[in-house]
Amino acid sequence: MDGRDLVRSMKAVGSVRAAQGLRTVRAAWRRRRADATGLPPRGAERARVPGQVRDVEPGPGGGTLRFSRSQLRIIVAVNGAVFWGWDGAGPEPSYALAGRCPEPDPRAVLEPDKDGGWRVVAERVTVVVSRNGAVEVRTPGGVTLRRALPPRWWEPVGGGRARWLQRSEVPADACFFGLGGRVSGPRLRDGTYRLWNTDPGRAFAPGDDPLYITMPVQFVVADAGSHLVFHDSTWDGTVTLREGEEGAGSGHDRAGMSELRMDGGPLRCWVIVGTPARVLLAWASLTGAPALPPAWALGHHHARWGFGSEQEVRRIVAGYQEHGLPLDVVHLDIDHYDAHQVFTVDQEHFPKLPELAEELRRDGIRLVSIVDPAVKAEPGNDVYDSGSAEDAFVRDGSGELVRGVVWPGDVVYPDFTHARVREWWGGLYEERLAQGFSGFWHDMNEPTSFAAFGEPTLPRSSRHALEGRGGDHREAHNVYALCMAMAGYEGLRELAPQQRPFVFSRSGWVGMQRYGGTWSGDVATGWPGLRASLSLVMGLGLCGVPYSGPDVGGFDGSPSSELYLRWFQLGAYLPLFRTHASLRAGRREPWEFGAEVLEHARVALVERRRLLPYFMTLAHLARRTGAPYVRPLWWGAPEDRALRDCEDAFLLGDCLLVAPVLDPGADRRAVQLPRGLWYDTATEQTYEGPAQVLVEAPLSRIPVLARAGSVLPVRGDDGALELEVWAPAPGRGGGGLVVPDVGDGWEESEIERYAVRWEGSRVVVEREDADRMGEPPHSVRVRGLGDR
Ligand code: NOJ
Repeated sequence: MDGRDLVRSMKAVGSVRAAQGLRTVRAAWRRRRADATGLPPRGAERARVPGQVRDVEPGPGGGTLRFSRSQLRIIVAVNGAVFWGWDGAGPEPSYALAGRCPEPDPRAVLEPDKDGGWRVVAERVTVVVSRNGAVEVRTPGGVTLRRALPPRWWEPVGGGRARWLQRSEVPADACFFGLGGRVSGPRLRDGTYRLWNTDPGRAFAPGDDPLYITMPVQFVVADAGSHLVFHDSTWDGTVTLREGEEGAGSGHDRAGMSELRMDGGPLRCWVIVGTPARVLLAWASLTGAPALPPAWALGHHHARWGFGSEQEVRRIVAGYQEHGLPLDVVHLDIDHYDAHQVFTVDQEHFPKLPELAEELRRDGIRLVSIVDPAVKAEPGNDVYDSGSAEDAFVRDGSGELVRGVVWPGDVVYPDFTHARVREWWGGLYEERLAQGFSGFWHDMNEPTSFAAFGEPTLPRSSRHALEGRGGDHREAHNVYALCMAMAGYEGLRELAPQQRPFVFSRSGWVGMQRYGGTWSGDVATGWPGLRASLSLVMGLGLCGVPYSGPDVGGFDGSPSSELYLRWFQLGAYLPLFRTHASLRAGRREPWEFGAEVLEHARVALVERRRLLPYFMTLAHLARRTGAPYVRPLWWGAPEDRALRDCEDAFLLGDCLLVAPVLDPGADRRAVQLPRGLWYDTATEQTYEGPAQVLVEAPLSRIPVLARAGSVLPVRGDDGALELEVWAPAPGRGGGGLVVPDVGDGWEESEIERYAVRWEGSRVVVEREDADRMGEPPHSVRVRGLGDR
C-alpha cells in the first residue's frame, strides 16, 4: 500500500469509527431494551435432582431408567460411543451430529448392579448407574474414567426452560484439554471457562476467555485411559475445572473435578473412551469427517487488512516472486468491498478483479475472499433486497428486524438456522466465484455487533428458526457460525461441484470441521501470542477441528524481527500457514525484516513447499480417521506424564516432532522426546527417547525431529513425489502411509502403505499391496545413515 492509500484507508476507518460511536451506543440500548421485554423474567425457581431409581426398561444399546423425578436414557453405540440423556433427551436433534446417530450396539445390555444400581456392559466400556443417578464410565478392566454425579436442575416455578448443573469427577492424575479454541491451553488448568462464542473486540492475549470458538467438549487424559466427553447443549454456560491431587501413595488422592453449569438445553452427553486415535476416530464418525482442503490451501497464504488496491496486491505478489519466496494464496479483506458491504467490490480500487485473479492463477496463486455475515440494512443493497424478499433476516419477538452494527454501519443478520436461508446465502457465492475467488474466509460470525456496552452480539431475545423448532438467540448463538459455514460449503458444492470448497471460519461449534477449518482470530503480537497460537491449534485438533493456524506475526502492532521469524517458522508447520495483520499494524512481508530474516523465512517457505505431499497425506488421514495433523506429544503414549506436561512442542503426523522456539533470545531448547529413536532433521544427530534432550535452535531454524523408521512423502526438485525415509533404529523396522492427492476434485485417492526394514547394512523400503510387497512407485531417499 503506498502512503496515499494508507491515509485513505485510515481516514475511511476513522470516519467509520466516529459515526459508529453513536451507532454502537444506540445498538447497545436497543439490545438491552429488546432483552428487557423479550426474555421471560427470571422468577422463583425450584431445584430438582433425579431421586431414586424406580424401574428400568431395557432398550437397544442399553435402556431407560426411571427415577422418581427424572428418567435417564443410555445408549451404547456400535462405535463404542456412550450416550446418555436425562429428562427424555435423545441424541437428536443436534447440530453437532453428522447425519444420523450411530446404531445402538445390540450386545450392550442393561443388567442389575450392586446396591440397587444398574449397568450396561459393552465391549469397550462399562457404564454403571447408581440408584440415585450417578453415572460412571469404566474401562473394560473396571477402572473408573469419569463419574458424573446426579445432576441438578433449577426450573421456573410456572414451568419453562431449566438451568442445570453436572459435576463430574475424574482420576486424580487426569489432565483436561479442549473446550474449543482456548489461549490458556493446550492443557487447561484450574479455572472457569465460558461457553459463549465471543469476539473480544481487540487483539487477544493469554487470559482472554472466552474467544470465538467455544465447545462443551473435553478431552481428558489419565493413566487409566483417555476419554472425550461432549455435553450436547448449545446454550451459554461455564465449565469449571480443577485438577486432582495425588496423595503420594497415602491412598488419599483428591479426584479431579469438572463442573458444567448450563443456562438451558437438554442435559445429554456423549463419552468416548480409548486411545487418543480411537477416540478421535469415533468422534469423527459421530460429528463428521473433516473436510478435505484443496491442495493449494496447504501452501503459504498472505493476507492483510488494507491492501487497498489491485496495485498493492500486485506489488506484494511481485515481492514474493522477486525474492524467490513460494506463495500460494492471497486473501482480500473487507477493504476490497464497496463501503464494507459483503458480496460487493470497490470498483475504484479493484476495477478488474477477475483479471487480477486470472493473472495470479497463471502464476499458481489463488485468491480468497473475506465473507462477513452482516448485511447493510439499506434498500438498494442487492443482498439486503434479495434477503428481504426471502425473509432471511433475524427478527425479534414482535416481528421487527433485529439491527446491529458492523463495518458497513447498520446491518441485519441472516438467520442461518433456517434451511431456506442457508440455500439463499449459499447461492450468493456465485458472485464471488465470478470475481475469481477460490476460497472463503468467514469473519465476524460469533455473530458480532459492535456495542458501546454489554455483549457485542445480537439480543438474546432475537428469534431463530432452529430448523423449524423455533427458539431464540440463547440457543442459536453458538451455532450461528456453524450454520453459516454449512450455508457457504453447501452453496459452493452446488455452484462448483467439481471442486473441494475451501471455507474457514472465525467462529464455530462442534461439527464445524465438516465444512472447513478456522484460524486464530486477532491474536496479539507478542511472545505470549505466539505461544497462544499453538495452544489454539492443539486444543481445536483435540475437539475434532484439525485445520487451523494463527495470524503469523500477530494481528496488531509490529513484531520484532526475531518474533516475526519464530512465528513464521512455527506457522510453516501448522495446517493453515497464513501471514495476516490489521489495517494499522506494521508490515508482515518477509523482506521487511532485513536480509537475515528474509533468508531464514525463505528456508521455512521452501521447506513447507517440500512438505506439501506430507500435509496432503495428513489432510487425507484426518478426513478418514479424525486424527489432527498437529498432535500433542502424548498422542501415542498418554500414560507418559512427562509428555503430558510438555505443551510447547507437537507431533506433526506420525513422522515429525516440531519444537518451535516460543521465547526470545533462544538458540537451543529442551525437548521431551517420546519413546524411540529420533533424528534432528537438520543435522541427522540422533536422540533416544523417552528423555528430555537439548537441541540446537539457531535463528535459522526451529528443531524438527524425524521418527526413526518413518516414511515422509515430500516434493522433489522436479515437483514429483519422493519418499524421504529415516533409517530405523538398529534391528528395528518402520513404515508409514502416504496418500497422494489426485487433484482438487472428489476422486478418492488410494492409501499407499510402506514397510521399512534393514537388510544387512541396507535400508529396504517396500510397498505393501494386498497380497505382496513391491517396489515403491516413487524415488526413495534414505536419511540418517550417517557413516553406516
Ligand atoms: C476481524 C478479523 O478477525 C480480522 O482477521 C480481519 O482482518 C478484520 N476483522 C477485518 O475484516
